[in-house]
Amino acid sequence: MGVVLGRDHVRIEGTAKVTGAALYSSDGSRAEEAGRLAHAALVTSAVAKGRIIGFDQSAAEAMPGLLGLFTHRDFAGSVAPVAHLMAGGYANSSHRPLYSDAVAYAGQIVALVVAETVETAAAAAASVRVTYEEEPASAGFDAPGAETVRLADLKPHHEDIRTGDAAAAFAASLHRIEARYETPTQHHNPIELFTTRCAWDGDTLTVHEPTRFVGAVQHGLAAQLGLDPARVRVVSGLIGGHFGSKFALSQHTALVALAAKRLGRPVSLVPTRRQCFTIANYRPETRHDIRLGADAEGRLTALVHEAEVVTSRFDPFAMEGADVTGSLYACPAIRTEERATRVDRNTPGPMRAPPEVPYLFALESAMDEMAWQLGLDPIELRRRNDTATDPVSGKPFTSRPLIACFEAGARAFGWERRLPQPGALRDGPWRIGLGCAASVRPVKIAAATIRVRLAADGSVEVAAAHHEIGNGITTLLAMGTAEWLGVPVERVSVHLGDTDLPPAGISGGSSTTTSLMSALSIACAQVRDTRAVARAGEPVEVVAEFVPKGSKPDALQALRAGHIGLTLPDDALSWAFGAQFAEVHVHAETGEIRVPRLTGAFAAGRVLNPLTALSQLKGGMIWGLGSALLEETVLDGAAYRNPDLAEYLVPTSADVEAVEALIVPDPDERVNPLGVKGLGELGIIGVNAAIANAVFHATGRRQRRLPIRIEDML
Ligand code: MOS
Repeated sequence: MGVVLGRDHVRIEGTAKVTGAALYSSDGSRAEEAGRLAHAALVTSAVAKGRIIGFDQSAAEAMPGLLGLFTHRDFAGSVAPVAHLMAGGYANSSHRPLYSDAVAYAGQIVALVVAETVETAAAAAASVRVTYEEEPASAGFDAPGAETVRLADLKPHHEDIRTGDAAAAFAASLHRIEARYETPTQHHNPIELFTTRCAWDGDTLTVHEPTRFVGAVQHGLAAQLGLDPARVRVVSGLIGGHFGSKFALSQHTALVALAAKRLGRPVSLVPTRRQCFTIANYRPETRHDIRLGADAEGRLTALVHEAEVVTSRFDPFAMEGADVTGSLYACPAIRTEERATRVDRNTPGPMRAPPEVPYLFALESAMDEMAWQLGLDPIELRRRNDTATDPVSGKPFTSRPLIACFEAGARAFGWERRLPQPGALRDGPWRIGLGCAASVRPVKIAAATIRVRLAADGSVEVAAAHHEIGNGITTLLAMGTAEWLGVPVERVSVHLGDTDLPPAGISGGSSTTTSLMSALSIACAQVRDTRAVARAGEPVEVVAEFVPKGSKPDALQALRAGHIGLTLPDDALSWAFGAQFAEVHVHAETGEIRVPRLTGAFAAGRVLNPLTALSQLKGGMIWGLGSALLEETVLDGAAYRNPDLAEYLVPTSADVEAVEALIVPDPDERVNPLGVKGLGELGIIGVNAAIANAVFHATGRRQRRLPIRIEDML
């Protein structure tokens, strides 16, 4: 522990946030835009596939205050193609709305209306009548016309695992579990919608948009509009939630920029909640066929994980997860196969712990089923299959505190009072169940640059084009500067979220602390060296570059060009670990499921601010409860049936009772020089399986499809 780092510190921007003083991107325009700002609204497609025949815009055009109504007839050819961020480009979807008369998915943008007021824009958009020539659409698994491909054919780098002969080993296993597990479509639903505001000054464009990758928005927009990236400035202030969205260039940004250019006015777009279900991304539905074999002692003899995820027709996007489920436990025979089903929907996107949430639901449910078949305590089953090396590659883990997490969590949770027999614990009409599951997540790190300026008066400015996404990086950067330069935290000001600052990559993959704090430690060392030889009282300014070990040689160029660059070590596996515990009560007559207690124990290397770390972990656990019991976007044909917060359910305060997170020591000197692993996404993983396993323990009924609803209990 340092003087500052490793100790609790409240969020620097916390007071502004809870008192309402904090400003978010859509909260207001700059003074120079005042009075000139025009407001946009979207018209989205009522059909899922087909062609637009025509628009009746007469009612909109009769409205006083209408400034413009733009369709593909106005913008066709104005937006150049840009690839998906994770396919070497910048976009959250390579699909371009208003590019032609084609409709590729339900809820696609088909027109942009701009007016003097928000109200006029909304009324005008609502009045536009669009006629279509509709074609049949395929929107989910097994729909006629859906196309299933092997991930290896979609993504050239993808490799399925083949270790030993898993089919033969499974057939010869004494104990066998074979089951299908399913997870639903989910949407991010941050409180702050997917807004943008675009203003031109001559041929220089400034965009205010909540994003966790200003560099990708800048370079992607420049490529779409044929501009020099130096003429595009992207500013992202505090972010009002993202849950994994807001990660790349949005489809609507270029349209708003074009409208602003044509009208000669700054234009702001605040889409509706319903539109945010289709103009951005989502966690796609997944299904998993798991086969687990074990010997009489509960040692795994075979593991087969076949997984299928939904994706769009136009992007090679799919989050891979069997690298994690295939490497979690010791096993001599492992086979994985991942597939993607291409349908007529927009491209899905990362939602926090994108692969681990669905993939570990499957594996950790199957492990619980195996424990039950063996008559073994579920923690004991995991202990017997613990491994210090990757069963696939033989590489070591840089640290492996998985069982330490289960032990610490079990103690805090009171696991010893669990009677193994399902349905054995009751409290009046409530059946009580206890369940657990593992959380694991590979550690990622990225190149970053950062500027540190020590002024003559001893105050320090830290600046990087990274983002405060609510994770507390503003506070951590101030704490690190205080620690490494010996100044009070209060003398440090932190500037983020602006492409005018030194580039610092995506706020994603739980890589913010590993990457930014590494860059900051280098910058502070350079400031100390420079200060030692500078004249007393002179300001010192450095711009430090951090390139993690194992990066590609062009990592800094890629960073400066707005490309994503997350690195994993190639000589070892570095993972963060956790163990999730849930107590559920299931009402014997109504089937109501309550979760009075969640306990999570997490090991993620060195924790630099326990207060914000625990708060983030608990937030993730609460979201995991939502994933287990509430969240699901339902398809109605090829459209979403419940795109609002009345019918898309997320946990409320009444759903959340006692949530406890604890940190398990994990000294790991190999992961990176700071020993930090990052834990932004660790808290949500495994909660769904822990709750499903607890529901089984309460009722004797195995739940293999999420979310688990009252009707599943009847
Ligand atoms: Mo996370 S959704 O991998 O940033």
